[in-house]
Amino acid sequence: MTATRGSVAPRGADRHYRYLLGDSRREAARLRAQARLWDPTARALFDRLGVRRGWKVLEIGPGQGSLHMDLRRRVKGPVDAVERSPAFAARLRLLCARDGLGPGRIWETDLLDAPLPRGLYDLVFARWVFLFLPNPEVHLRKLARSLRPGGLMAIEDYHRETFALVPRPPEWTNFLAADRAFFASQGGDVSVGGRLPDLYGKAGLRLVEIVPTIKVGRPDSAVWTWLSTYFLGVLDRYAQLPPFTKSQAARLRRLWLRAAGRTTSLMIAPAVLDVVGRKPRTDRRGPLS
Ligand SMILES: C[S@@+](CC[C@H](N)C(=O)[O-])C[C@H]1O[C@@H](n2cnc3c(N)ncnc32)[C@H](O)[C@@H]1O
Repeated sequence: MTATRGSVAPRGADRHYRYLLGDSRREAARLRAQARLWDPTARALFDRLGVRRGWKVLEIGPGQGSLHMDLRRRVKGPVDAVERSPAFAARLRLLCARDGLGPGRIWETDLLDAPLPRGLYDLVFARWVFLFLPNPEVHLRKLARSLRPGGLMAIEDYHRETFALVPRPPEWTNFLAADRAFFASQGGDVSVGGRLPDLYGKAGLRLVEIVPTIKVGRPDSAVWTWLSTYFLGVLDRYAQLPPFTKSQAARLRRLWLRAAGRTTSLMIAPAVLDVVGRKPRTDRRGPLS
């Protein structure tokens, strides 16, 4: 748990949130490799949104910062961030000191504890953060307040239901249940992407677009490596989550590694949804801008 002193968390928000993946050097390297595969999808999203010079942008959970640096180049100036990992925040400060675009505000804290300005941002962006968060509606409402009227919320997150290894191992159903249970253990939802459109409505945002990306890969592809690195890395932790068992996890690992040696194997990745919403320019009391 992070500091709760002066917390702005509304009653009912879970204050015992623990970030499941940590900020070890190994996890940092995994995030950088994952970003290399997925940054083009995010850049296409930024292109569609028309992010440009002068925009005020806030990124939640920039991690290793590749998209943060891209956003800075697009707005030709600093971008703000909330990043709870001290190691990741320190790296971000270093990267930002090098491009000559000036320091952004980096709140090194849990999103719920960040004293965000109200009505300021043209864009709030987060990739792969919401799946970890308990009570995403509370987080979304907070972020919506930080948007200016007409400002955009853009979140990229998973809709896990497409995930398949072909041919399908017998342990797959229990493995997927363990994947869900792992994130749920801290109040998160590994398939939060598909819930975001409804949650946007509850946070007072109008839906602009939902764009899915489903990557598919054969052994030796970047997609296969990306998925194997993560899932084989957490398999022992998943084995603690019934109905998945240690012996099922061991069998699945063997089948997974065997599948990697067959050119006919196929991995269909969890879908990533780009979900974009806009804060209305008017509310019930009349025009805001
Ligand atoms: C899976 S990583 C994704 C990093 C990056 N967005 C990317 O796409 O590569 C999740 C990131 O969100 C940060 N994070 C998780 N929960 C957070 C919270 N409640 N407040 C702020 N940052 C958070 C983590 O420290 C980590 O940097």
